[in-house]
Amino acid sequence: MELKNMDKIVNLCKSRGFVFPGSEIYGGFANTWDFGPVGVELKNNIKRAWWKRFVQEPPNSYGADASILMNPMVWQASGHAQSFSDPKMDCKSCKQRFRADNLVEEFSKGTVAAEAMTNEELEKYINENKIKCPHCGNFNWTPIRQFKLMFETSRGTLEGEKDVVYLRPETAQGVYVNFLNLQRTTRAKLPFSVAQIGKSFRNEVTPGNFLFRTIEFEQMEHQTFCKAEDAFEIYEETKKRALQFAEDVGLKEENLRFHDHDKLAFYAKAACDIQYRFPIGWEELNGIHHRSQHDLSKHQEYSGKSMVYVDPVTNEKFVPTVVEYAIGADRLTLAVLCEAYDEETLENGETRVVLHFNPAIAPYKVAVLPLQKNLSDKAKEVYSLLAKQFMCDFDDAGSIGKRYRREDEIGTPFCVTVDFETLENNTVTIRDRDTMQQIRLNISEIVPYISEKIIFN
Ligand code: GAP
Repeated sequence: MELKNMDKIVNLCKSRGFVFPGSEIYGGFANTWDFGPVGVELKNNIKRAWWKRFVQEPPNSYGADASILMNPMVWQASGHAQSFSDPKMDCKSCKQRFRADNLVEEFSKGTVAAEAMTNEELEKYINENKIKCPHCGNFNWTPIRQFKLMFETSRGTLEGEKDVVYLRPETAQGVYVNFLNLQRTTRAKLPFSVAQIGKSFRNEVTPGNFLFRTIEFEQMEHQTFCKAEDAFEIYEETKKRALQFAEDVGLKEENLRFHDHDKLAFYAKAACDIQYRFPIGWEELNGIHHRSQHDLSKHQEYSGKSMVYVDPVTNEKFVPTVVEYAIGADRLTLAVLCEAYDEETLENGETRVVLHFNPAIAPYKVAVLPLQKNLSDKAKEVYSLLAKQFMCDFDDAGSIGKRYRREDEIGTPFCVTVDFETLENNTVTIRDRDTMQQIRLNISEIVPYISEKIIFN
């Protein structure tokens, strides 16, 4: 399959109000992006679909929303304060900074497992192969240094006092530190899951590729607390559910694959990614990790609070194991945009750009378009009726053909056109985005017609 063109997707996103460069009027702020009117609807719908699938539908699943700023001890216990860093090298000629593992990965075209290499091995490989700076083409590197990924800020309640606090680099710890509260208030028995959606921050060495890797992003993370002996089965089950969700949200099966991690964290028993075929190639979409008892044990050790679970049937006492599924909401939004983007040649030779979103996650479910301006009053009545049920667009500017094209470009699955017949018999046409076919319905039939087609199943 031919890879889609990322530049075209980025341009469409900017021109149609999905995503804008962050702080643009000040020249931007590298690798930050702001969601516009249709972008925020798309991302919210993706997050809602995820919440439905992972919190609402399964039994024994709950939600949480922990603080971004946490007691700094959390990051000592989790190990982030000590070791959440990337190997970086600076080009002494052009001063650009790169991740050493990425340089090796790209040079070897993925044939070398760079993530499993030590800094010495990376440096040796780069020197032996004379890997040049991708920016200026020189071979003039600094030695590798570890680059801390956590953003620091400070807090002081007293004049002159300054305590370092961190912007969380993942949401997961907010759930782990609440394990006792969550278990006590839900009275849940193992296995049970807790999901959270929220902002995370990473001072990435080489962010880029639009929404793919940014310094501020939203994560959707799902932790299953279980007995150690059940964890592998739950891990396999989680892999299946994560893949199914990616397909249900609109990603094609042929553009998704599992990728086992080459190097496991010392505590992990298994870990894999689901990769998506982005226009930049196969890249991680989400991670699934069997994290053993590491997280709760570490918080038990550092906080001094017992994380022991007492099995109500066997009376066994143990610290639960965690199986995690973590996906970036922005990265998934990018994947969904890439998958949905299409350029079609019409019968009249024109090209139409269309986003074939799953209707359940499309920003607007329906657009109301009066055929002519003098039908706007009737069209506004229809809009008011539909807007009570769905996110609904209204457009009365320009030819009807151009308005259909504009709705295609933002992926609106249905366009309701109010014409002169509407004034006579209260019927409208409803146009399907993908087939471009139109049918005629009574106004009272529109809500049930659309409702049935936009359920996320
Ligand atoms: N709690 C586990 C964890 O955070 P991760 O693999 O580092 O695992 C999970 O991150 C997901 O978060 C990734 O698979 C990706 O979808 C998203 N993500 C991570 N870093 C990101 C970044 N800098 N920009 C956008 N999304 C990111």
